[in-house]
Amino acid sequence: MKGLILSGGKGTRLYPLTYTNAKQLIPVANKPVLVRVIESIRDAGVDEIGIVIGQTGPQIQEVIGDGSKYGVKLTYIPQESPDGLAHAVKISKPFLGEDRFVMFLGDNVIQGGIGQLISDFAHSDWNSQIVLKEVENPRSYGVAKLRGDGSIEQLIEKPKDPPSNLALVGIYMFDPNIWQAVSSIKPSARGELEITDAIQWLIDAGKQVYPHVHKGWWIDTGKPTDMLEANSLVLEELIPNIAPDAIIENSQIDRRVTVEHGAKIINSVVRGPTIIGEDTVIENSYIGPFTSIYHHVTVQNCEIERSIILEHSSLSDLGVRMQDSLVGRHATVHRNDEKPRALKMNIGDHSNLWVV
Ligand code: TTP
Repeated sequence: MKGLILSGGKGTRLYPLTYTNAKQLIPVANKPVLVRVIESIRDAGVDEIGIVIGQTGPQIQEVIGDGSKYGVKLTYIPQESPDGLAHAVKISKPFLGEDRFVMFLGDNVIQGGIGQLISDFAHSDWNSQIVLKEVENPRSYGVAKLRGDGSIEQLIEKPKDPPSNLALVGIYMFDPNIWQAVSSIKPSARGELEITDAIQWLIDAGKQVYPHVHKGWWIDTGKPTDMLEANSLVLEELIPNIAPDAIIENSQIDRRVTVEHGAKIINSVVRGPTIIGEDTVIENSYIGPFTSIYHHVTVQNCEIERSIILEHSSLSDLGVRMQDSLVGRHATVHRNDEKPRALKMNIGDHSNLWVV
C-alpha cells in the first residue's frame, strides 16, 4: 500500500490565516494537522507517501522536508490549480502506479488510528473502501445509501432528502480501477473533478465499494470554528508533560497542562487541557482550558481561554478575557492607553474582529 495526502487547495474559509500560509500547517495542540495525518498513515504501516501540493507547496516542503524526521519517504506532487480531489488523484498516477493506496485529506483530524481500516482493505478484494461517519446534519455532506449487504449503492452530495445519516469522511482507499474512473468523469457544476463522482463511477461499473463506519470523532478543519473544536478534542486526549527545562515560578499549573521545552510561566494560572509551546513566555496571566499557545509567543497581563495562538505573536494588557479566538503568526494584540481612547487596527483582508 502507498499513501496519498491532499495538501493543495486554497483554504479560502480560513482567510486571512491562509492567504499566504498552508492551512494544513496550522497546528492543533501545537502540531500541524498535516504532521498528524502523516503520522497516522505511518502508524498504520504505510511509509511511502505522496503529498499533493499547490500554491503553498514551497512552505509545506520547507516544514515537512523529505519525511525522514517522521520515518516516512515523501514524494511531492505539484498540482497546478485546485481542480478537485479526483483531479489530485489523477495527477498522482505516476507516483501510485498499480499499487492499492489510501488517500487522506491533509486538513482532516480523526480520533484513533487508521491501522485496522488499512489492514481490512489490504487483505480484502474490495476495489475501494470509504470511511463514513454518523452525522446530525447529513444535508450538509456527501451521504451514502447502502445496500442490504452493507456495500454502497449510491453517494449523494448534500441531499435534500438524505437516505441515511452516514457522511463521507476524508479518508478513501482505492485499487487501480480508480484510474479508469478519474479519466471517465467530467468536471462538476463548480468546475472540479469530484471524488464522489469517481466513486459513483466505480459503483456503476459494478466494482465493490465498502464502507467503514468510524465511531470516534472526525473534524474537517476547514473553518475557524472547526479548528477550535479539533484543538479542544485533541487537547483532551493529550498526555500532559512538563519539559525538564521549562521554568515555572509562582504559578498554579493544572495537571492537564503540557509545557514545552524552554517555556516560562511566571505569576500565572494555567488550567488544562492546555499546551504552552517552546520558548513561549506567560507572565501575570490566566490561560484557561482548551488553549494552544505555539512557540515563541509572549503573553503578559492577559486572560485567554479556548483559543489558538500561533508562533511569534505577542499579547499584553488586554483588559478583557479573550476566548474562541485564532491569532495568526507574528501578530500583536495590545491595550492602547493613549488619548484619545480609540481602537487602533492594522488587520488584514477577511479578518474578523469582535469588539466589546
Ligand atoms: P477543501 O477543503 O475541499 O478545499 P480548499 O482547501 O481549497 O478549502 P476552501 O474550501 O476553504 O477554499 O480541500 C480538502 C483538502 O484537499 C485540503 O487539504 C486541500 C486539498 N485539495 C487538493 O489538494 N487539491 C484540490 O484540487 C482540492 C480542491 C483540495
